[in-house]
Amino acid sequence: RPRPVPDGAPDHPDPLAARFRRTWDALAAIGGEGAAGYHRFAWTPVDLALRGWFQEQAALRGMAYERDRNGNQWAWWGTPAPGAVVTGSHLDSVPGGGAFDGPLGVVSAFLAVDELRERGAVPSRPIAVVNFADEEGARFGVACVGSRLLTGILAPDDARALRDGDGVTLAEAMLAAGADPGALGRDEEALARIGTFVELHIEQGRGLVGLDAPIGVASAIWPHGRWRCTFHGEADHAGTTRLADRRDPMLPFASAVLAARQVAGEMGALATFGKVRVHPNGTNAIPSRVDAWLDGRAPDAATVGKMVGEITAAAEAAAAGHGVRVEVVAESSSPVVEFGVELRDRIAATLGGVPALPTGAGHDAGILSAAVPTAMLFVRNPTGVSHSPAEHATPDDCVTGITALAAVLEDLACR
Ligand code: GLV
Ligand code: MN
Ligand code: MN
Ligand code: MN
Repeated sequence: RPRPVPDGAPDHPDPLAARFRRTWDALAAIGGEGAAGYHRFAWTPVDLALRGWFQEQAALRGMAYERDRNGNQWAWWGTPAPGAVVTGSHLDSVPGGGAFDGPLGVVSAFLAVDELRERGAVPSRPIAVVNFADEEGARFGVACVGSRLLTGILAPDDARALRDGDGVTLAEAMLAAGADPGALGRDEEALARIGTFVELHIEQGRGLVGLDAPIGVASAIWPHGRWRCTFHGEADHAGTTRLADRRDPMLPFASAVLAARQVAGEMGALATFGKVRVHPNGTNAIPSRVDAWLDGRAPDAATVGKMVGEITAAAEAAAAGHGVRVEVVAESSSPVVEFGVELRDRIAATLGGVPALPTGAGHDAGILSAAVPTAMLFVRNPTGVSHSPAEHATPDDCVTGITALAAVLEDLACR
């Protein structure tokens, strides 16, 4: 069932739990569609409302607010300067997303700042809260657009040309939202300001449940990528075209879905077709074309490549049998990430020893780890469910996460 907000009353006796709930509620209302989950896509009116929420949170705390060249939002405690300790995550969602993937890290970041201020901590370097633009890539197909642009992994021209399902380019969407796509690109100044980045995130599996631990640190992210598979057939009448005369692209697509499951299972990897567009999408017409997107992940990059190769070969063989042409195009990829052991151990020690665990989910922290010292804190997810309205964390675990993040920020920025 959908879990848009954590349980626990706004008048919870623990002041941090009560403040968490109040902050959370203001955000939870934006972009939710009840049982259908969250639909928070980059540069839409919903995204602008989320961005407004972020700006308000900065203003409430007297933190200096800015939006960088790539649309990422920053709130500063202290004067922006090189070597800052940065924390945060993203506010956008997948289609039908849960409430926690992303927002938990941003809300926790603001509340961790509150904790430090309340206890009179004096930072010796600035602390910033960040909201990275378009982490999920739900609208334009490429994930972590804000952090990829910031670090130069995504070329500005390639970013501007990305198109959503209606053919609107990222550049057009940014303009319509009052942002300047002309300034996109690697941002040396913003990068130099990040001394350390720590992203808190709900765990997207049951690793911490298995370890009986409310929080942990990330050890690694599996390499992964997205491929667009286009099956070109021929449109015709469903009632008059003999089966033998058809060039139906749906059939090799179906074979590719089954092959993906089979091959991934054999390789200890993961393959998912989660998005498909059928043209012209009529019940009584044989499709002219099927566009399907493959998400592939594995513990190492060689396995990802081998798996996608085998799925492609299976799709091609099936297509040939039906007079269909298939094209497989890589749209984005993320290399394996091994988070630095030194920072990870320091954080685990600060927190009195917490477990380290890998994940198959991508994060802005994974992108940033190639450029700056980066770590992640995971908060337990009782069911492990994510990218679904049923995604959930308990209020107690959320409070544990905020308290831990505050301790980490204090260790990194106040010594
Ligand atoms: C992002 O959440 C991803 O791992 O796809
Ligand atoms: Mn996600
Ligand atoms: Mn996320
Ligand atoms: Mn993610």
